[in-house]
Amino acid sequence: MTDKNVILLASDHAAVDLKTVVAEHLRSRGMAVEDMGTHGRDSVDYTEYGIRVARAISEGRAERGILLCGTGIGMSMVANRFPGVRAALCNDLFSAGMSRRHNDANILVLGGRVLGDVLARAIVSAWLETPFEGGRHQVRLDHFNQGFCDPFK
Ligand code: RB5
Repeated sequence: MTDKNVILLASDHAAVDLKTVVAEHLRSRGMAVEDMGTHGRDSVDYTEYGIRVARAISEGRAERGILLCGTGIGMSMVANRFPGVRAALCNDLFSAGMSRRHNDANILVLGGRVLGDVLARAIVSAWLETPFEGGRHQVRLDHFNQGFCDPFK
């Protein structure tokens, strides 16, 4: 069962404060948020929390998620291992818009040690509001399912 209105959210300890900011921003926009952890500042492995959201998106339990770690790099590496996940690390506004227009990103990744609150909110809004353009970009995304991107194909 998918719920278009639910955004799955997770972070490690390095971005737990920015996760709270993002969750409040999403709720203020009328969106439901499922916070999959972590819930404190004790050191945790970003892998565990990235897997929670990426697996749920991959299995079709929700359509969109947001992951955060210190830089966003580890979370994006984890998430993009899951079939059907298109995770985009966007620590700037232009990338956030383009990740939707051209890449149909279904997970936004943010760096809690990179971004301030104001820019993070703006990036999340841009990502939520920007539609996928389809067309030639859909052709390219289809390649992911056709072995084009498999070095062992
Ligand atoms: C944690 O110290 C840090 O490595 C993590 O948050 C992230 O930046 C990894 O990519």
